[in-house]
Amino acid sequence: MKNATSFLKTALRVNRHFWCLFVLIAFSFTSWSLTRASAREKISIDSDWRFAFGHPFDTNKDFSNGTGYFSYFAKAGYGDGAASKNFDDRAWRNLDVPHDWAVELPFDDKGTHSHGYKAIGRNFPDNSIGWYRKTLFIPESDLGKRISISFDGVFRNSIVWVNGFYLGTEPSGYAGFSYDITDYVAYGGSNVIAVRVDNMMEEGWFYEGAGIYRHTWLTKTEPLHVAQNGTFVSTEVKENAAAVAVTTTIQNDGKADATFEIEQTVLDAANNAVGTTTQKQLTLKSGAEAEYACSMEVLNPTLWSIETPYLHKLVTKVLSGGAVVDRYETTFGIRTVRFDSNEGFFLNGKHVKIKGTNNHQDHAGVGSAIPDALQEYRIKCLKEMGSNAIRCSHNPPTPEFLDACDRLGMLVLDENRLMGTNQEHLDLLKRMMVRDRNHPSVILWSLGNEEWSIEGNVTGARIAATMQAFAQKIDPTRRITTAVSGGWGAGISTVIDVMGFNYLTHGSIDEQHKKFPNQPGVGTEETTTSSTRGIYVDDKANGRMAPTDRTDAKGSNVETGWKFYDERPFLAGLFYWTGFDYKGEPNPLGWPAVLSEFGILDACGFPKDQFYYLKSVWTDEPVLHIFPHWNWKGEEGKPIRVWAYSNCDEVELFLNKKSLGRQAVPKNSHLEWVVTYQPGVLLAQGYKNGKKSILQKVETTDEPASVQLSADRSIINADGKDVSVVTVVVKDKKGRVVPVAMNEVAFTLDGPGKIIGVGNGDPASHEPDRFIPSAKSVKIGVWTSLNVDSAENRPEVKAEFNDADWSPAFRRSRDASAPAAPVKATVYRTRFDMPEMGEKDSVTLMLSSLGEKQSIYVNGQIVLKDVAKNADGLLINLPKTVLHPGNNVLAVVATPLLDRRRSGGDAGSIQILTPADGWKRKVFNGLAQVIVQSTERAGEITLKANAPGLTSAVLKLQVNQK
Ligand code: GAL
Repeated sequence: MKNATSFLKTALRVNRHFWCLFVLIAFSFTSWSLTRASAREKISIDSDWRFAFGHPFDTNKDFSNGTGYFSYFAKAGYGDGAASKNFDDRAWRNLDVPHDWAVELPFDDKGTHSHGYKAIGRNFPDNSIGWYRKTLFIPESDLGKRISISFDGVFRNSIVWVNGFYLGTEPSGYAGFSYDITDYVAYGGSNVIAVRVDNMMEEGWFYEGAGIYRHTWLTKTEPLHVAQNGTFVSTEVKENAAAVAVTTTIQNDGKADATFEIEQTVLDAANNAVGTTTQKQLTLKSGAEAEYACSMEVLNPTLWSIETPYLHKLVTKVLSGGAVVDRYETTFGIRTVRFDSNEGFFLNGKHVKIKGTNNHQDHAGVGSAIPDALQEYRIKCLKEMGSNAIRCSHNPPTPEFLDACDRLGMLVLDENRLMGTNQEHLDLLKRMMVRDRNHPSVILWSLGNEEWSIEGNVTGARIAATMQAFAQKIDPTRRITTAVSGGWGAGISTVIDVMGFNYLTHGSIDEQHKKFPNQPGVGTEETTTSSTRGIYVDDKANGRMAPTDRTDAKGSNVETGWKFYDERPFLAGLFYWTGFDYKGEPNPLGWPAVLSEFGILDACGFPKDQFYYLKSVWTDEPVLHIFPHWNWKGEEGKPIRVWAYSNCDEVELFLNKKSLGRQAVPKNSHLEWVVTYQPGVLLAQGYKNGKKSILQKVETTDEPASVQLSADRSIINADGKDVSVVTVVVKDKKGRVVPVAMNEVAFTLDGPGKIIGVGNGDPASHEPDRFIPSAKSVKIGVWTSLNVDSAENRPEVKAEFNDADWSPAFRRSRDASAPAAPVKATVYRTRFDMPEMGEKDSVTLMLSSLGEKQSIYVNGQIVLKDVAKNADGLLINLPKTVLHPGNNVLAVVATPLLDRRRSGGDAGSIQILTPADGWKRKVFNGLAQVIVQSTERAGEITLKANAPGLTSAVLKLQVNQK
């Protein structure tokens, strides 16, 4: 099935049992109620996690996990150390996810080039295992429901426990995964999720982040419910109507067989019902899962398109015993897509050239933990250039990225991570497709990218053919590609449905088309002009590059790519490598460069010059852009090549009002004047049809005089997730951006918000992206104890007391020996190693209660006297005067505790908290970026920017309750 025309076939294919076609239509219930009580809850559990670094092989540093006599692989519920429910995690850092710990680490030349020299991976075992814990309250009233937790993506190799029960391991850093926790939950009480994330190994060859970097969810349903990602909506557009085919997967997790109905309703964007159907008298055995297909017709629908991304919604209700037991919403769009081997790509029957970019999933300041609003910001930056498509290189994106593409009208090439045909590979492909197949933005699936060991040979052809056949069954409405970088004419290129060409220099695209005239083609990767924003003279030793097309005229660049694809109607279009600079792969440079420089925009989204080339050829908006800047002190009298990108017919250039000539703009190219440098004003006048059109000028500026702030959105939502992207600009006294300014700017924020990241697009900057408090935990050593006959005046608490013959204090749970005989009091002793402390550090001892009453001593000095036991444990601020660097002695005198059981070794820990330094960043060539996130409070945020010698800036942001 090669195009999306067989709606009926599709719908019939999916369900043989309960086919029903009930057409109702074009009635417009006003405000179809959405407020009806929901039988399903999907709750964000992003806030309030605890985080600490573990260790790949030092079990002490890994919170004793996996050291129990019986491991969690031996006995259910035996998650030990940090995986156990009772573990005391109060010394851990408190944070919200999405969280990327890699972006918080320093740069180090021993880090990997591909991942941007962050101090993570095999050379940095102390930074490469992350633990997350979260406590969840589940009410008693949830007993009887199905409860699951979902992670949209954890990088990588995560192990998850709930209440010490091992739930599973997910090796992929890109796949979403869920665990049903119904049977492990403490109803009416607290429940602990523990996640161990292992970043010792990488998946890709680009920065990938680390940790729970996507959203997390708690889902509650009735036992009879729509399965996870359990709907598949596809559409076929006919004259004046669209057929909407729906397959719904229902799961019966109940103990009894179920009889039920499924009611489907299509809502338009104003929530009017525009189609409905009900499937009655359905049955499903206990424990079974089945698919149910049906179809509706929607009259005169508004189609989803790039210009009008109109979205419909399907509301699926499952009714049983007279009640709605599930209500599930699916957003979709009505549209058709078609790839033609001679004419390219069609959306809703209209020819569209794909003007795309590849992008990884990281942004300045936040790394891979991109807030949803920042996804939207990035997509808008690309749309502004006239781009209409994004390839998710080289992995499935976050669901919210696709939601944003649906809303904004951006086409998506959705890509699988690794090629292979074993169960694990096919399962990952299936999970991506089942999750993403309702998004109208997704127009094409990619099985993989540049699989060098197989792409040009018969093994590759076999693997691709198997995966393709598998994928076509999961989604018969879209076609399949693979990005192939060589061996065209053999291997994968002989079997793949839509040929994905990586780089026109890697073979003959025309030859491939001739040989396979029925195979559509798209440029999955094409060269941009690599460059550092605002740099026009190579300084490669310091990680900065002038635009490659000005230094190496022979190499491929943004113009050669577009010319080639524009001239070939059989090619659907292209995706440039890349839209944004990303962390890692600073090819062809290396340390100290830590970011790639392939982007058309830098890592903050500030445009480089070639952005305007593409805007001039990709949009109808008048574009005239001249470069370089005109601040060339010391270059007076020397020649400078001035280029113009424009879609005017002609451009005339003036230096200080003197004409340097008028030239016609060549198609898909640029203009050049060689200008003898004198400071002043370089002005370009564009002409359209012989008449003056737009003007652009660049001026020699004065020294930096002020810093200024502006926000992409000055009103944001008080949901703790929304962000405003703030641009920092350094200007001269006449208000002109100083294109060579590198001033360091400090930021402070007051009000209901926080700064979550700063950046400036400098590929060689090693400044921190984030300024975070550091919470170090100091491990407390082994406890020994001695029973004594009174709690008063104990000499055993002294630092120098000899406790060599004392016995171990706490019995392990596997120790079956009898409980200790009743005693009057016990002295407990242990040691801990303190590092040198900074002036601002504060030290907190977190201790489980060791007695009904206890007194606590550090190095013989009392810090707490006679405090009663506390179920939540004790929290003691340790004055620095009682501590010293190196070995310290902790002693506790306790009266007997009635219940002496504990999990062992986790009686306490010590936290050293170093408050974050103030946020700051240098502007790079005049610009920097601050990302501000709301809290859950409404109010006004005041962001201030100060730089020595410059007039400071104040920006107000409004935070509103939605
Ligand atoms: C391509 C590859 C991309 C990126 C790029 C850098 O071959 O597919 O992921 O590595 O090279 O030039």
